Amino acid sequence: MSPANPVHNYKGIILAGGDGTRLHPLTRTVSKQLMPVYDKPLIYYPLSTLMRADIREVLVITTPRDQQAFVDLLGDGRQWGMDIQYALQPRPEGLAQAFLIGADFIGEGPVSLILGDNIFHGAGLSEKLTKACRREHGASVFAYHVPDPERYGVVDFESDGRAINIEEKPSLPKSHYAITGLYFYDREVIDIARAITPSARGELEITDLNLAYLRRGDLNVEILPRGTAWLDTGTCDSLLDAANFIRVVEKRQGQKIACPEEIAYRKGFIDEEQLLALASQQLKSGYGEYLHRLTQDHEVIVDEI
Ligand code: DAU
Repeated sequence: MSPANPVHNYKGIILAGGDGTRLHPLTRTVSKQLMPVYDKPLIYYPLSTLMRADIREVLVITTPRDQQAFVDLLGDGRQWGMDIQYALQPRPEGLAQAFLIGADFIGEGPVSLILGDNIFHGAGLSEKLTKACRREHGASVFAYHVPDPERYGVVDFESDGRAINIEEKPSLPKSHYAITGLYFYDREVIDIARAITPSARGELEITDLNLAYLRRGDLNVEILPRGTAWLDTGTCDSLLDAANFIRVVEKRQGQKIACPEEIAYRKGFIDEEQLLALASQQLKSGYGEYLHRLTQDHEVIVDEI
């Protein structure tokens, strides 16, 4: 188990707003980030990614309509040894707005932003996250090979592997590497975000923020290797594909992906007694049974969570 105290001072923001129009009518009354992905709500996945990075103070940014549902689901985070706070984004005015909304929460330290609909899974990810959190200066982002780069922020590399440019949804992408929705920034991020102006689509673009770091020579772009899963949940098909992927891997291994209770327990954020209390609240679904079994599992844990 890793120590209960974080090894760095990064805080985390989950951006879980937006109008989810591409999922209508599913999202007409329920937030996209609360949609089920097999056996748990979508937001558990990005939350777990932050927890794997030992980030324990998290701000969840939602629409005014959906905030109460997130509070009902996640509470103040204490049950998982976390500190979860909430803020509102009345309109989807861009990903970089998260740093303006979250300025007081961030304070003087570094911060990670994850999009509330991004799912990451794969071996070696925990190490990459921890490495990003160890960087005190500059920004770190992750690039992922995709067949349809024009849908994303696309990074373009020099022959020596150095990132030289990023373009948001280019019609003629210069590479197949999309920038994923997980970002790590130093304390400069609020000032840089304040200097950004809205793009042609009226949003404060995260790509403009990343370009500002790139131009200063302060952007670290890490490629996620083949075999890593970065799953999209933007459409009904991709949401179902993500659920099927999670189901197949969980069933085959008998281990859950992105189970906040398990991560909290394995990382020492909560103890056995707290885990058992959480298990007893949800025994009927099998989820609680899984949590219960964790306390009886005396195998040496050699893999990452
Ligand atoms: O998924 C990675 C991509 O995310 C990056 O490659 C792009 O550079 C970045 O711009 C972003 O692309 P999209 O334009 O596809 O993001 P989208 O507008 O779909 O928003 C992503 C999620 O964030 C979505 O669940 C809604 C939420 N969101 C979005 C905006 C613009 C908010 O909560 N607030 C917002 O203001």
